[in-house]
Amino acid sequence: MNVPVATGGIFAEQLERIVAGLVRDGLAIETAFLSPAQVDGLLREARQSWAAGRFHAAGVGRGQAQQRQESIRGDHVLWLDEHAPADVALADYLSRMDALQQTLNQSLYLGLFELETHFAVYPPGSYYRCHVDNFRGAGERRVTTILYLNPEWQPEHGGALRIYLEGEHGAYLDVPPLGGTLVTFLSERYYHEVLPTTVDRISLTGWFRRRP
Ligand code: OGA
Ligand code: MN
Repeated sequence: MNVPVATGGIFAEQLERIVAGLVRDGLAIETAFLSPAQVDGLLREARQSWAAGRFHAAGVGRGQAQQRQESIRGDHVLWLDEHAPADVALADYLSRMDALQQTLNQSLYLGLFELETHFAVYPPGSYYRCHVDNFRGAGERRVTTILYLNPEWQPEHGGALRIYLEGEHGAYLDVPPLGGTLVTFLSERYYHEVLPTTVDRISLTGWFRRRP
């Protein structure tokens, strides 16, 4: 599938803006990264797997030390490598992420070689406390990508992604998790949190990794 050609150059412009944002701010927010139809395809896929009970409560920490801790994060996840062969919507998403990885490697020399990615569902009342994505001493996650899948989002739904711009406190930016928005940032740069949501909040989150 050759997404960049199929989208007539618009996708290439999105990639350029994302790279420019990462170079300048370590952060890029691209609304309408996907069309409503593409978002809907991914949302259906997430909902089907959710209905089939394939998600599990997310953990905190790594490897054997990983524990479920709802006071820190209340989302449920489904890793894509545990997912059945990619359907059309997922294949399209993965090919776009692949193009993004190549662009980032060419422009920023980040040495990215792999995307790990999962669907996430935050049921009403859940949140994810302030954190950075890279575990201390393990710097394999270089770039975080979060793609939102809710077709509608109202302020009363809560659930914003709050990105702290200077360290752990202080100035921040709230991003509404509206379907089609892609947030990309340097994984080690920003503290961030998911504010409590009042409705199911669905996303597809990925991390570009370098070799351990
Ligand atoms: C994460 C995370 C943010 C979001 O999964 O590490 O910070 O907006 N997600 O879903
Ligand atoms: Mn995070």
